[in-house]
Amino acid sequence: MCRPMATVLLASLCACAAALESDTAPGAVSLTSVESALWPPAEEAVYRRTETASTCNCRSLCLMDTRCQAAGARLLSSGRFSCHLASQRKLGAPPQTPPPAEEGAWFERGGSPQLSEVCWWEERGETAGFCGRAPDCAAIRKLGETWSGYRQVQAAGSRVSVICDMDTDGGGWTMIHRRGEGKNTTYDKTEEDFRAGFGYTMGEHWLGLDSIAMLVKREEHHLRVDLWKGDSFTTATYDLKLVSARDNRYDFVKLSGNATDGLAEAGHQGFSFCGLPCTFGGWWGYEEGGEQANLNGVLNESTGKWELLWPGELGLEVIQRAQMLLRPANFVP
Ligand SMILES: *[C@@H]1O[C@H](CO)[C@@H](O)[C@H](O)[C@H]1NC(C)=O
Ligand SMILES: *[C@@H]1O[C@H](CO)[C@@H](O)[C@H](O)[C@H]1NC(C)=O
Ligand SMILES: *[C@@H]1O[C@H](CO)[C@@H](O)[C@H](O)[C@H]1NC(C)=O
Repeated sequence: MCRPMATVLLASLCACAAALESDTAPGAVSLTSVESALWPPAEEAVYRRTETASTCNCRSLCLMDTRCQAAGARLLSSGRFSCHLASQRKLGAPPQTPPPAEEGAWFERGGSPQLSEVCWWEERGETAGFCGRAPDCAAIRKLGETWSGYRQVQAAGSRVSVICDMDTDGGGWTMIHRRGEGKNTTYDKTEEDFRAGFGYTMGEHWLGLDSIAMLVKREEHHLRVDLWKGDSFTTATYDLKLVSARDNRYDFVKLSGNATDGLAEAGHQGFSFCGLPCTFGGWWGYEEGGEQANLNGVLNESTGKWELLWPGELGLEVIQRAQMLLRPANFVP
């Protein structure tokens, strides 16, 4: 929802309404209003200086990094902006007005309207087609960010924490699933849970069908499946198409990679998620009696192990570790 803005500057447009929604991501800073803020913050609070193409890009860098509490962008003679990211706001009397937009801008998490996370159209970045919070890791990579790790993005109308893989095959991958990382996340869940997502971002997790659908319906995407079995690593990249968001139905067509096509039976058929009750892991294309992959496999009561299944040369094999990554099909690093 777009909150009405009192200031003249912001009165006309609210380009990034979604950025105002409440923050539920672990480790995130809540959007309570903060009365006091002064820019620039103490020099020692600035932990990173970089150049950006626009003030909005600078704001985006701050919003995607949970360490960042405030940021400032100043115009350089080159026409680019010097962007400073700071770990703290400075307490004291609030500034009267932000600097003229053409000279720069400052921001803080949850600040007053002048300093808040709200973006307006004049700030819209030239190089990145979004204003405020990035929709996915590909957009973050396009901002020039090359470190892999924990970020916040805007998906399915709210903020979610994700792991970005900026190293594999040019980077820009948003992790949607990871298993076998030690943190013991149960995958016997309800459809609601699978829609909303669950787990620990830094450990085992499932991003959530609503967020996945949000990404995939915007444009064509590739799904990369990485599998570790003993010392052996294999991977497969799929073209992923959303057939129906309501029924969680997807098409999978293998494009490349040396892993067996574990989703072959799910290709071209618009396979739904939770074909079986979700308490079996809710896997795509999983059907009773079928010898099919299931990276959401459940506990084997006789061995006490969580079974992640993927077909190999010898039929269905139990693997130790898996992850799935998503990236727009037309991504160019
Ligand atoms: C994971 O949970 C299962 C069942 O609760 C338990 O047997 C197993 O020891 C746990 N593994 C780890 C690594 O915590
Ligand atoms: C499969 O391909 C990946 C990436 O090219 C490579 O790193 C891996 O070693 C290959 N695995 C096998 C078993 O050949
Ligand atoms: C559990 O593991 C045992 C031993 O590997 C296997 O024979 C059995 O089929 C598994 N059970 C299920 C339900 O997958």
